[in-house]
Amino acid sequence: MADEKIHVEALVIGAGPGGYVAGIRLGQLKKKAMVVERDKPGGICLNVGCIPSKALINAAKYYDKLRHGADIGILADNLRVDMAKMQTWKCEVVSKLTGGVRTLLKANGCDYRTGVARLLSRNTVELTGADGNKTTIQADNIVIATGSRPIEIPGFKFDGNRIVDSTGALAFDTVPERFVVIGGGYIGIEIGTLYAKLGAKVTVVEALPAILPGNDPEIVQVVARKLKKLGVEVMTGAKAKSWSEANGRAAVVIDVSGKDVRLDADRVLVSVGRRPNFEGIGLEEVGVKVERGFITVDARRRTNVPGVYAIGDVAGQPMLAHKASREAEVVAEVIAGHKAEFDVRVIPAVIFSDPEVASAGLTAEEAKQRGRDVKVGKFPFVALGRAIANADTDGFVKVVIDAGTKEVLGIHVVGNGASDIIAEAALAIEMGALADDLSLTIHAHPTLPEAIMEAAKASLGEAIHIQNR
Ligand code: NAI
Repeated sequence: MADEKIHVEALVIGAGPGGYVAGIRLGQLKKKAMVVERDKPGGICLNVGCIPSKALINAAKYYDKLRHGADIGILADNLRVDMAKMQTWKCEVVSKLTGGVRTLLKANGCDYRTGVARLLSRNTVELTGADGNKTTIQADNIVIATGSRPIEIPGFKFDGNRIVDSTGALAFDTVPERFVVIGGGYIGIEIGTLYAKLGAKVTVVEALPAILPGNDPEIVQVVARKLKKLGVEVMTGAKAKSWSEANGRAAVVIDVSGKDVRLDADRVLVSVGRRPNFEGIGLEEVGVKVERGFITVDARRRTNVPGVYAIGDVAGQPMLAHKASREAEVVAEVIAGHKAEFDVRVIPAVIFSDPEVASAGLTAEEAKQRGRDVKVGKFPFVALGRAIANADTDGFVKVVIDAGTKEVLGIHVVGNGASDIIAEAALAIEMGALADDLSLTIHAHPTLPEAIMEAAKASLGEAIHIQNR
């Protein structure tokens, strides 16, 4: 078959939460657009990341709650995990959402094709299909949204069996008896907690002095306490050196302060960070600038090459789906000639640990470093009616405000429900709210977001349900 040639106004490479959102928005803006993807629509997030992990985390949470149901008068005998069934259900969740991506693109008039894309020039892309057929796509604009992949460490090559990345760890058909997690960041803590709840003996190996680096130490402490309660062993200041097969298990050698420690594991998850995917897509040939491991972009998500844009994990930290989706809207609007920019005050972040951690804006320390005089209001979940009724009182909300103007600078939450509570925090900071705005807004009772209102009141010395300091 002769090579096919087509023309579009915008070609988006990658169909993750960056790429597919760009496609939808371009369609809405009546641009002749196409999204191309080498794998399945939805990217890491929908297929092997955010969504399947949350499905399993939620299932593990139910199981764990029921195991401890006697505390609240629920007695269950013979409670078991059917991992195969859980995996089937997880796959159904994923396919519902990935199917939705195709439908949404189509409904908005954006074309979609499967194939491997490579830039031949700043407005030509070659797409190679699974059958080897090539399509040449002339594109007035090209959006690179190719995402990221897990980093491998020396001695721990992913083999999809003993040594797995997050994708592998979310597809186990049985609960490993012994599970070693290398890297105590977002992924390690989320997946480690999930399998601990399902019955695995979990050990987390973290190179730094504490897990979840970059987070408020007081918040990390709450998560660390719960991990201990779940029987998870956390080794900090520890680095994985090597592993070998021994007695039907992996014998993992860990360096702890210069001493070798051996850990036996059925499965080992390596979750030490992710790196952008842009090798082999023709960036050098076209002259797209890459600095410190990311494609360099401006506020409009333009690269140094006219007509070539980059969004999502390839375009800089934080590597979060919701950041990519916002950038996608911006880039589509820029291509459509709007005066759009990626101009946000906060990008909220959530860790689906137990309890959950969520933050938006500056910590007190960061605000002080920027020369702000700050006040902090804190409200514990143990004083919150809804949290007590939920039998889930670990955690607190911290509201950081400017002592003079009372502007809300940051809100940090540890506690189950944090992932939902944080939406109000992001909106408040984005709108330049004052502590009074949060304090004076009537929050429905009994709900978890009341903790935000109370912490805001506490920052003003006016909390109702705790003693003001
Ligand atoms: P991460 O950067 O969150 O954590 C990696 C951890 O590994 C760090 O604590 C680091 O100190 C440790 N580490 C590095 N090398 C090590 C070694 N040789 N031995 C022991 N520890 C080592 O990376 P992670 O967890 O892989 O996640 C990647 C990214 O994916 C996150 O940064 C985040 O952007 C995204 N993500 C977001 C989620 C969410 O929004 N809830 C969930 C999962 C991932």
